[in-house]
Amino acid sequence: MAFLHKHSLATGLAALALLLLSPALAAASPDASRQVVLEHLLVQDCGSCHGLRMTGGLGPSLTPEALAGKPRESLIATVAHGRAGTAMPGWQALLDEQDIAWLVDRLLEGGFNP
Ligand code: HEC
Repeated sequence: MAFLHKHSLATGLAALALLLLSPALAAASPDASRQVVLEHLLVQDCGSCHGLRMTGGLGPSLTPEALAGKPRESLIATVAHGRAGTAMPGWQALLDEQDIAWLVDRLLEGGFNP
């Protein structure tokens, strides 16, 4: 029990550190070569369900109009973890938080033109 208690304290501290660091991580952008990889992924992988122009397919439209009013943080969580019971997979094994935030910002800004 003493071990478990220490362990959960350490986990709590690690989670707190991540929480404090995450705004800084989310603010940074992936470097230029990573951005090329991510744009390719957006068309090839995300586009296979959401449409090559993100106007929808098996998955819903991801245009700025379609995403209007949806909180950025919840969209980031959807991309990271997927949506249970739907075809939307989680991407956190392939993409870090900075990558995901960058992709979501491309979608929200509509600055994405294949
Ligand atoms: C295998 C199909 C599939 C792939 C691949 C896929 N998605 Fe999805 N996605 C879905 C489905 C289906 C939903 C709707 C889930 C629901 O019904 O809530 C969804 C939902 C979303 C949403 C939430 C939209 C909203 O209106 O709330 C976002 C954002 C999103 N996907 C982004 C992405 C991104 C970015 C990628 C690539 C990294 C991706 N998706 C890849 C199927 C997919």
